[in-house]
Amino acid sequence: MFFKTKYPYRLLTPGPVPLHPEVQQVLAEPMIHHRTPEFERCLRSVCERLKDTFSTQEPVFIHASTGTGAMESAIVNTLSPGDKVLCIISGKFGERWAQMCKIFGIEVVAHNVEWGHAVKSEDISRILRAQPDIKAVFTQACETSTATVHPIRELSTLVRERSDTILIVDGITAVGAMELDMDQWGIDVVIGGSQKAFMLPTGLSFIAVSHKARRFIERSRLPKFYFDLKLEQKAMAKGETHFSTVVPLIRALDVSLNFLTGEAKKRTLSRIEKLAAATRAAAPALGLSVYSKAPSPSVTALVVPEGIDSQKLRDHIEEKYNMTLMGGQDQLKGKILRIGHLGYITNDDMFALFDILYQSLHDFEYGGLKKSGREEAQAILKKHLAK
Ligand SMILES: Cc1ncc(COP(=O)(O)O)c(C=O)c1O
Repeated sequence: MFFKTKYPYRLLTPGPVPLHPEVQQVLAEPMIHHRTPEFERCLRSVCERLKDTFSTQEPVFIHASTGTGAMESAIVNTLSPGDKVLCIISGKFGERWAQMCKIFGIEVVAHNVEWGHAVKSEDISRILRAQPDIKAVFTQACETSTATVHPIRELSTLVRERSDTILIVDGITAVGAMELDMDQWGIDVVIGGSQKAFMLPTGLSFIAVSHKARRFIERSRLPKFYFDLKLEQKAMAKGETHFSTVVPLIRALDVSLNFLTGEAKKRTLSRIEKLAAATRAAAPALGLSVYSKAPSPSVTALVVPEGIDSQKLRDHIEEKYNMTLMGGQDQLKGKILRIGHLGYITNDDMFALFDILYQSLHDFEYGGLKKSGREEAQAILKKHLAK
C-alpha cells in the first residue's frame, strides 16, 4: 500500500478520514506539557468553541479515547444499576449500545429496525407510552454500518416532554457533518469522535451533556473511574483535563474547529452534503445502487452488482489502486461498499474514486458495465460538484 503503485494514496472511509493539511502541520509541532499556561489557553479555547460545533451552550467534555469511550462515559455517568433503557438497533453501532448497557447491568428494551431503514418515531412513542419507567433512549444519529440517518429531531420531541427520560445520541458520524441542534431540539447527550468530521486522527472523543442530563449525572450510581464527568467538570473549570491528555490532538482540534464553527461550519456541512449527493447521483452509471432508504451525508453505502463480492472488490481497489474504502459487516458482508464523505476530500478524489470504481468493475469482468459508464459518472460528478 501507499507508495507501491503509481496511484496516490486516497482514504475514503467513514473514519478515519483524510486530514486537513493545516491539521497535519500542527501535528508535526514539538510536544509541550499538558500542565502549562500555553496548553491551558488552547484547551479553554477548544472547550468554548466545541459548544458551537455541538450547537449547545452546555459543556462539552473531551476524553482521551476513541468514540466508544464516550459511549461508555454516557452510560456510566447517567445511569444506575437496574435502570431500564430503550436501545434503537439498526446496525452494528446500535448493537454496541445494547451490548454495553447490558454489561453495565442495565435492563435493555431492544427496538430492532430493519437495516438500512430509519426508525419510525411512532414506534418509539408507543414504546415510551407503554413503559414509563424507561430512563434513557439510546440511538445513533447516523448508523455508520448501514449509512442511514435517524430522525433525531422527532425523537427529541418525544423524549423532551418526559421529565425522567433522556435522549442519548451517538453523533460520531453526525456532529459537524449534518444538522444536529442539541439545545434547540432538546437532545440530552451527544457524542462525537475525532477521526470523523473533526478531520483529526483517532484518539479523542467528545460528550456534550444537557442541563437535564446533569441531573442524571448527579444521581448516577454506576461505577466509573477514567470516564468520571464530575471530575472532568472540576478540571475543566481550571482549564485542565483530569488525566493527562493527547496534547497534539487537542492543539490540532483548535485548528480543525476553524472549519466547524461559525459560518465555516455551514460551508463544511454543505460540502459534505454535496459529496454525498454527487456519489448517490453518479453511482447508477456504474450499476451501483444506494443501499439506505434514509441515506446519510457522511457516508454512502453502495450495493455492488450480483455475483461480485464487495469485500474482494474493496481489497482489489486497495491493492491495485491504492484507495481504501469500507465493505459491509454481518448481513451486509460482501454486498456493499461504504464511501466516506468526511475530512479533507477534494473534487479530484471524487473523480478518481469513480474512475477507480469503473476500472475495478471492469477488472472483475462485470457484464453489466456500460462502456459509457465512466464518462457518464464523471459528467454527473462534474455537474454536482460545480453546484
Ligand atoms: C456511529 C458510530 N458509533 C461508534 C463508533 C465507534 O467509534 P470508535 O471506533 O472511535 O471507538 C463509530 C466508529 O466508526 C461510529 O461510526
